[in-house]
Amino acid sequence: VPAEAAVPRAQIAECVHTLTISNDHAAFQYGPAAGPTRLREWIAADHAVEVNRVVVGNGSVGLFDLFCRSTLRPGDQVLVEAPCYDRVLRLLRFYGANVRAVRLDDDGPLIDDLVSALEGRRPPVFFYMVPDFQNPSGATYSLDKRKIVVALARRHGFRLIEDAPYRKLRYHGQEQLSFLDLAADVTIHMNSFSKLLSPALRAAYLIADAETITRVAAAAEDTYLTPGNFALSVAAEWLRRGHLGPQIERLKNMYKPRLDSMIAAVAELQLGQPLVRPEGGFFVGVTLNAAVDEGTLHAQAKAAGVELVKGSGFFLEPPLKSFLRLPFCAVDEATARRIDGRVERP
Ligand SMILES: Cc1ncc(COP(=O)(O)O)c(C=O)c1O
Repeated sequence: VPAEAAVPRAQIAECVHTLTISNDHAAFQYGPAAGPTRLREWIAADHAVEVNRVVVGNGSVGLFDLFCRSTLRPGDQVLVEAPCYDRVLRLLRFYGANVRAVRLDDDGPLIDDLVSALEGRRPPVFFYMVPDFQNPSGATYSLDKRKIVVALARRHGFRLIEDAPYRKLRYHGQEQLSFLDLAADVTIHMNSFSKLLSPALRAAYLIADAETITRVAAAAEDTYLTPGNFALSVAAEWLRRGHLGPQIERLKNMYKPRLDSMIAAVAELQLGQPLVRPEGGFFVGVTLNAAVDEGTLHAQAKAAGVELVKGSGFFLEPPLKSFLRLPFCAVDEATARRIDGRVERP
């Protein structure tokens, strides 16, 4: 979750007020299944694409669900990362996909793994990736690996799902070209304002070819008629007022020291080996030094007031060693260094 202090409540209140006194009733009415036009237009301009290539809806996982519902058939091949965002694994299992995992290195997927997953099989429908500050490992794909993945997608005829909710939250290093920038012909870009504004607004979008967008919008209409127009209109008004840029700077200032102190705490406590040294996002993924019983760890963490997600849930096959995802954004610097109840102030 984002830090509570990250949510710009006063700005949201002003946006709500503006909508409630406006003559335009769209925020209070049913509307297009692809989402409020103003928000679609803002996103299209931000990504320099046509409006008919954007669908806005209730959370990016919700949109991905609609995409899978309109695209996947039981038994279809799908590739994911190992480790992989756990919610997506659950969804793919629900749709009966034949899921194969490609191991991640600190600069993206192991290309040998990817090539061998493609050899001698029907091509996958897509490869689901979080190329920037991956959930749960924190890894970011290098430009070289992005180019290799694009070349393989074009050669074998599969699509790339680029899930990018953390992309704008870079605290160190240089931004990489997105898959949407590199290869719009094979990319479906998923994104969300959950980590930048507030997850409760459920403001999220997909960018794809117009035909895919029409299919996802039709699935949305069959499912919820219209997305949450009021909350999405609040997000649109907030973006129209130009708050996003300053908000990103504010979040970077808040989260960068939290990332640094989480990495320092992992080293200081000799917890284990971080999979990568993340340059942004929300997570540090760690392979624990000791083989730990997950159930016991969770019970102990819960008793100490720490809610953990099961590390094994990020893998198709249980990992050999225990994996722990440490989300650092809602954890201030002092808390990250708390040892046995003592708070060691930096
Ligand atoms: C990779 C990834 N995709 C999607 C989401 C969920 O986004 P939303 O709130 O838009 O559904 C998350 C949230 O943790 C995430 O880590």
